[in-house]
Amino acid sequence: MLRRILVALACLSLSVVGAAVAQPAEQPSQRVRDLLGRMTLDEKIGQLNQVPGGRQRALNSRLDAAALDRVRRGEIGSFLHVAGAAQIRELQRVAVVESRLGVPLLFGMDVVHGYKTMFPVPLALAASWDPALVEQTARVAAVEATAAGLNWTFSPMVDIARDPRWGRVVEGAGEDPYLGSILTTAQVRGYQGSSLADTTSILATAKHFVGYGAAVGGRDYDSADITDRTLHEVYLPPFHAAVQAGAGSMMTAFNDIAGVPLTAHPALVRGLLRGEWNYDGLIVSDWNAIPELLNHGVAATPREAGAAALRGGVDMDMAGNLYSAELKGAIEADPALLPMLDEAVIAVLTAKERLGLFDTPYGRADPAREAAAMLTPEHRALAREAARRSIVLLKNDGDLLPIVASARRIAVIGALAEDANSSLGSWRAQGKVEDVRPLIPALREALPQATITYAQGYRPEAAQAIAVTASGEGAQAVHEVSDAEALAAAVEAARASDLVLLVVGEHFDRSGEARSYTDIGLSAAQDALAAAVLDTGKPVVVILMNGRPLAIPELAERAPAILETWFLGVESGPAIADVLTGRVSPGGRLPISFPRANGAAPLTYAHLPTGRPAAEDLVRDTARYRDQPITPLFAFGHGLSYARFQYSDLLLSQTEVAADGQIEVGVTVRNTSAIPADEVVQLYVRDPVAAVSRPVQELRGFRRVALVPGQAKRVRFTLTPAQLAYWDGTVDGGRWRIQAGDIQVMVGASSADIRERTTFTITSDGVSAIPATAIPTQSAEEPRP
Ligand code: NOJ
Repeated sequence: MLRRILVALACLSLSVVGAAVAQPAEQPSQRVRDLLGRMTLDEKIGQLNQVPGGRQRALNSRLDAAALDRVRRGEIGSFLHVAGAAQIRELQRVAVVESRLGVPLLFGMDVVHGYKTMFPVPLALAASWDPALVEQTARVAAVEATAAGLNWTFSPMVDIARDPRWGRVVEGAGEDPYLGSILTTAQVRGYQGSSLADTTSILATAKHFVGYGAAVGGRDYDSADITDRTLHEVYLPPFHAAVQAGAGSMMTAFNDIAGVPLTAHPALVRGLLRGEWNYDGLIVSDWNAIPELLNHGVAATPREAGAAALRGGVDMDMAGNLYSAELKGAIEADPALLPMLDEAVIAVLTAKERLGLFDTPYGRADPAREAAAMLTPEHRALAREAARRSIVLLKNDGDLLPIVASARRIAVIGALAEDANSSLGSWRAQGKVEDVRPLIPALREALPQATITYAQGYRPEAAQAIAVTASGEGAQAVHEVSDAEALAAAVEAARASDLVLLVVGEHFDRSGEARSYTDIGLSAAQDALAAAVLDTGKPVVVILMNGRPLAIPELAERAPAILETWFLGVESGPAIADVLTGRVSPGGRLPISFPRANGAAPLTYAHLPTGRPAAEDLVRDTARYRDQPITPLFAFGHGLSYARFQYSDLLLSQTEVAADGQIEVGVTVRNTSAIPADEVVQLYVRDPVAAVSRPVQELRGFRRVALVPGQAKRVRFTLTPAQLAYWDGTVDGGRWRIQAGDIQVMVGASSADIRERTTFTITSDGVSAIPATAIPTQSAEEPRP
């Protein structure tokens, strides 16, 4: 790639901007080479075999004598869905002491938003717009998970998601590749710490490579039909950020892009990821995805599927049992596969070596550490801080929030209010319902002067298993059933109150894997409840609990105040109470747009202008739905505060910048209220005229700033033209092209609340080797009188 760019440079005299991507892959170490040289073909294949030691919600349940024998015979390289220092220590002992070559095992699990101390779900954490916080939560997850013996997590999920019908939006950082890339880096750093060999560090997995969030129709596992530009500009950048951050592993995605499943995609995995990006970590398939190549219709037999995955660069077979059954035969039939097998084994052994497993195989499986590490007061405190910082105030007409002292009778209405299970979110590792501090007791504690009543409002009923995920988990979702008695009691409670807290949204199991829905509004039972409660005329604060954007136009219209609380983890209740009572001003911002209707998905604020940009005026024919306004229900970056902020003095360090230069953007933000609060200062850009049409807005910087009453701060961002480059796939395999011309700069409180604008000019053309949205914008703040 770099060589090609240099040749192009010589021909076109463009400036090449930015360093080459990651350093060239290291040679395998002496130890790894020695080991490889001593391995039989079967032992090599065994290293590529990842076996479930249990199920996600029944860890270790498949660990039996037969599994241990397979370890002894060197047939297993890794287990997933296992945990517990004692169990893992024993498994590791069998591998290290009783197998011929003593190669230690990798132990993986989906430790996604906490291990025992459950933090807010990833989409919620993304709403904090706080990379340092996100890094800390990942660090704590690593400390706890490694104390239980794990050395590998299948996280972060870095899939960009613009379709809220897709249930897995809950697992990622939302719709924006810039925010997504920054939070990817934060998570990888948190999981892996300063050295992977540290026994509190866990191997991070950037997943699912790539385009998984672009599933057509928002249907999980479905095809992604994405243009080359969108792939490079939107879906790939967070993976590039993961490579740069040193993520030890990547997981290929279930989906295909234009008919080529990522489980067997040499161009993207070997060509781009391994080749151009020099990625030398471990690449694992998703669950059972190698056998599923037959379903995709790109392999006629299991043997062909195994060969295709290996050719495609997949090192380890997660739960497919296919490499172990078929690779030997495939290699006998086609010896050209042997070097690829060796490369895959090297990747596995190198990951084990980087984790220090050859030297300290039991370092992470220490029962004493395990007993002391979980859910400590410090971890709980961080969970509360993370939960508070993830809450987004969507609406607050008449400053209904925070709750005033005169509100003596408060009615909490809606069954989600007492659903501590939902607070844990979709991946809960070892999170337990009994560790959750729910809303109602937290409110009673925070508001001792008030009488707090509770009414369920409808009947939540356990549903039959409606889906089985790729990990073999049955659904737990509930049906919400209207119940005249429950509804009447809720209305009665509302009438008897000074203030209603109406808790609605989705049960946790409606989002997550295999949880795609065409209807992303409230259930009929909740709709009826909301209408009846609003009809009482009492002041109503809606508290949303949900894992995806919801299409709730009527509720948004009628309710004076709406607080988005997602699924916030073990400190859910106290954190929501902190915000409701005004102990903390909400500072979260939406990392994903909320549509007005089911049919308005997918959507993004970063759309192209088109030849007929959407206009309010229905007389004109423009790019819009005729039955909906042109705006989202709640915009990307939106979030209110109890404070008010004033933006001023947007200034640039200069008005012109060469392709290889940089430019500083400064703005003053003042808290003009009497309330201490955080503001998230957001920087957007637009290239108004280029060789290709560019999005109307793109996030390129943000900073969450704490301001006491009256305080002002100068916030500075340093931008480089490479961050304005667009993907040009027409030349020489593709390049990032910087084009001379004007760039519009917008700074404000959300994508829909731009306060200041200016323009600068890029004075020369150039090329860059790095995806524009994977380049972090440096920012700084300093007090202003
Ligand atoms: C399937 C999911 O797609 C993936 O994200 C997860 O890591 C594996 N199952 C293992 O649980």
